[in-house]
Amino acid sequence: MAKSTASFVCQNCGATYTKWAGKCDACNEWNTIVEEAPRESAPKGLGGKAGRKIAFVDLKTQGVPPPRRITGIGELDRVCGGGLVPGSAILVGGDPGIGKSTLLLQASGVLAAKCVVAYITGEEAVDQVRLRAERLGLSKANVQLAAATNVRDIIASLEAGTPPDVVVIDSIQTMYADNVESAPGTVTQVRTCAHELIRVAKRRGFTLFLVGHVTKEGTLAGPRVLEHMVDTTLYFEGDRGHQFRILRAVKNRFGPTDEIGVFEMTDAGLAEVLNPSALFLAERRGNVSGSAVFAGLEGTRPVLVEIQALVAPSALGTPRRAAVGWDMARLNMVLAVLEARCGLAFTGHDLYLNVAGGLRIQEPAADLAVAAALVSALSGDPVPADAVVFGEIGLSGEVRAVAQRDVRLKEAAKLGFKQAWIPRSARKSDQGKPDDTKTGLSVKSMGHVQDVVSQFTDASVSRTPPRKAAGD
Ligand code: TYD
Ligand code: MG
Repeated sequence: MAKSTASFVCQNCGATYTKWAGKCDACNEWNTIVEEAPRESAPKGLGGKAGRKIAFVDLKTQGVPPPRRITGIGELDRVCGGGLVPGSAILVGGDPGIGKSTLLLQASGVLAAKCVVAYITGEEAVDQVRLRAERLGLSKANVQLAAATNVRDIIASLEAGTPPDVVVIDSIQTMYADNVESAPGTVTQVRTCAHELIRVAKRRGFTLFLVGHVTKEGTLAGPRVLEHMVDTTLYFEGDRGHQFRILRAVKNRFGPTDEIGVFEMTDAGLAEVLNPSALFLAERRGNVSGSAVFAGLEGTRPVLVEIQALVAPSALGTPRRAAVGWDMARLNMVLAVLEARCGLAFTGHDLYLNVAGGLRIQEPAADLAVAAALVSALSGDPVPADAVVFGEIGLSGEVRAVAQRDVRLKEAAKLGFKQAWIPRSARKSDQGKPDDTKTGLSVKSMGHVQDVVSQFTDASVSRTPPRKAAGD
């Protein structure tokens, strides 16, 4: 029999190699390949043994699915798609210290009033968790607490008697399966432990929360594989410098993705932020150049944020361009459109773009607000403080309509904004009207980015003759 050799596993994507290499060919990452003990090799094919026949059913609902469990933390429930689905596995990823343990302990605390919750920690001692619970005002909550790392023991406890309704594993990287020889935190360990725990959750019908750490690069430590195994992946993110924390669903088999929950870290734990727009705009100073308020949409909820731009003369040969909270490629595109279609010259200027409050925007609908902030910064002329902006910009400079116009306008009106710079409405009934009928906001319809540029009168905007777009 051939001697089993060690195998080398990429800690980023899980690809296996027979010898060490500096770079993983599968995911192109460097220094991610680590030697791990070989896994028992699977027999070639399935052998000659006959399998059991499986039964097929139709798609009609068979019986009523158990109701979702509402945690009582509204922001968490919404991100999960309206409560926790029994038998599902939820992965909560995030940087160390962002508040994953705090969030899950708080959720456990409120859930414990309605059902049985087990909180298993591999990171802290039981006393440390108790201390934290005390600080969160949860010391009376009936949470079943344990410090354990051996998955065999954990599963044996979950299999015995009536299972809990919700189980929290903090964190999956500290768990180990004693039949796997590699160290805790390696891909093989994480994968095996998660697989076993998820199987028990499905069989016994409890909701499983797995805490996962995030690597420097921002992906869940080690295994992307983990994301494929769970039903829901939530990222808990935020700036250490800010008090806001954003819980974002990036995968959800039972609800919409792109949904966010907003929290604020206080000295008594995480507090839900019910009106994020007011929070994100709280420190805004009106009437400064380079600032535009974007009426965005995060999942089903409208969120208003301030987009800030700074344009400064550069001493460098290649001027600096940086974006925080917004895609760099998208920024370059908006800049190129402003230069080529409106004749603005950003060359020779350093350029910074920031989404205030630490939110990360992914919607192309922010293009127009970015453009407004940039032109305003270049001209020194402010965007009116009571205006919200949204719209997508196409390469020929046209402003395209975006989804959920009315929801965005309603939120803006609610927060006291008086005017909106938005794409020209495709609806015949809205065209040419100075006001939005539903909200009373004064509407400035934008058909082309040039319409935005012409809102700024300052002559210091340096211009070169614009290039005509095809079909103009
Ligand atoms: P924690 O939940 O331990 O983070 P993670 O599990 O994601 O690593 O969060 C720890 C941080 O939160 C720590 O920096 C202190 C802060 N914190 C508060 O500000 N207030 C609180 O009430 C608690 C419990 C933590
Ligand atoms: Mg923790």
